[in-house]
Formats: sequence, structure tokens, C-alpha cells
Amino acid sequence: MSDPKLGTLAVHAGEGETLAVPSITTPVYLATTYRFPDAAEAAAYLDDPEGRWLYARLENPTVVAAERKVAALEGAEAAACFASGMAAITATLLSVLRAGDALLLSDALYGETTRLARDVLARFGVEVRTAPLGSIAAAAESAPPRVKALLFETPTNPTLRVVDDQVGSPTYAADLAGALLDLVALGATGTVHAVNEGRVTWCGFARAIVAGLGTDVEVVPITTAEAARPAPRPAFSVLDADRLAALLGRRLPDWHDALARYLAAGR
Ligand SMILES: Cc1ncc(COP(=O)(O)O)c(C=O)c1O
Repeated sequence: MSDPKLGTLAVHAGEGETLAVPSITTPVYLATTYRFPDAAEAAAYLDDPEGRWLYARLENPTVVAAERKVAALEGAEAAACFASGMAAITATLLSVLRAGDALLLSDALYGETTRLARDVLARFGVEVRTAPLGSIAAAAESAPPRVKALLFETPTNPTLRVVDDQVGSPTYAADLAGALLDLVALGATGTVHAVNEGRVTWCGFARAIVAGLGTDVEVVPITTAEAARPAPRPAFSVLDADRLAALLGRRLPDWHDALARYLAAGR
């Protein structure tokens, strides 16, 4: 036999018992193609690929093991792994939708997912409908049969939608506890409101938290009606702490200061 060429050596030299070392967990398989023991097995693959291995794009042992783990963890029938989030979302939607179907989307979604639906799926005859995240369950229930898929994220990335027409006094439990102890020491009776100073909408408060954490999450203001929460909240819940100030001779610090101390305590 003539001497093997460089390409043959690169692929086959040094292989042997290293092909099947019994590792404790599934190793990372980088090979693209797998070996059949004989031609009959290769032919059997065509009828029943389950448990047989041909080509990494179709089934890679490392990925299959990861998918089985995810399915076991989720208590699901099966799982599918993808190389990226958009690949997973695209494959999922393409597998359940066809021309003439409709897709129901939450109005707060990762931007590229919205773009996929509006700019790409719409070109293939899929009608894209949206509903506010807060009422997505009701929208799905009343959707006509042609709505074949519902897509929403919770929590949404990168958008936080927070009501901006309710004002309150965010109050730090540590400051409140200190005030309560002082009131007890004084023997105070009757109704006393104890809150940190200042007022802010819940959206403004969320923005301050996001800024304090140094993250770049977008906080989008919405109205109470848009939030569609079953439990009503007062539009104005700022409390008058004058009685507390008269009793203690001091007011609780401003909520900005309280939030900064709270965030620092968590670090
Ligand atoms: C909610 C959500 N969906 C989809 C994606 C897209 O994932 P990928 O960048 O892996 O395609 C992202 C990425 O940040 C995401 O946050």
C-alpha cells in the first residue's frame, strides 16, 4: 500500500482505543460524522434513526444528552437545543405556523423577535396580532382558531413596563423598623404614618432602582389601565408623616437615600 497522504494521516493517525474511552459523562463530540458498524445498520438508519448516529447536524451525542437533561429537568416530553435564541424562536414559529395562520404576540418582546414576526413571517402570509402582556391570557382565550401560536416573555427583556400614574412613598423597612422602635420607646399611641420622605411614581421608582444597579434595562411608563391588574391600587398613596415628625422630632430620610442604602446593603 502506498504511503498515506497528509489528509489521511490528519484524520486517521493516532485513532484507536481513544475513539471510545468510557468517560463518566458524555464528552464534547466535535466530530461531524459517525461510524456505522456495517452497511445494514446504515440502511436501518434511513427507516429508524432513533438510537443511531449519522451526522452532527442531525444528531450530535453531546447535544442529545443536553436536550435529554433539559427535558428531565422540565418534566417535558422532549427538548431541542439551538445555537442561539433567535434560531430557537425562528424554528419553533416555522414549525407551527403556515400561510393563512395568525400569531398572537405580546406587545413587550425582545425586539428581534418582534422584527422576525412583523418583517419576516408577515411576508409568508402569517397575520401578526398583538395584545398587551397584562391581558395576553384573555386575548389568547378569545382568539379565533386561526391563531395557531402565542408568544410572550415573562419577565420581558429588555423592557420593564411600570405604571407611571400612581404616586407613592417608597419606604425602606430598615428605616420603618427604626421609627417603630422609637415610637414604642416613647409610648406613642393612635395612628402614625411612617414613610420615607419624598414621592415618586412606581415607574420613577423602577428607573431609580435600575440606575442604582447600573444596568441598562429600559423602563417603559404605562398607565394603570394598561397594567390591567385585578387588584386596584390608589393613584395617590403618599402618606403625611407630620405626626411622626412631631412625635420623634425627625423625619425619615428621603427615599433616594433609603434606596441607595438598601442597594448598598445587598452588595
Ligand atoms: C428574550 C430574548 N429572546 C431572544 C434572544 C435572542 O437570542 P440570541 O441572541 O441568542 O439569538 C434574546 C437575546 O438577548 C433575548 O433576550
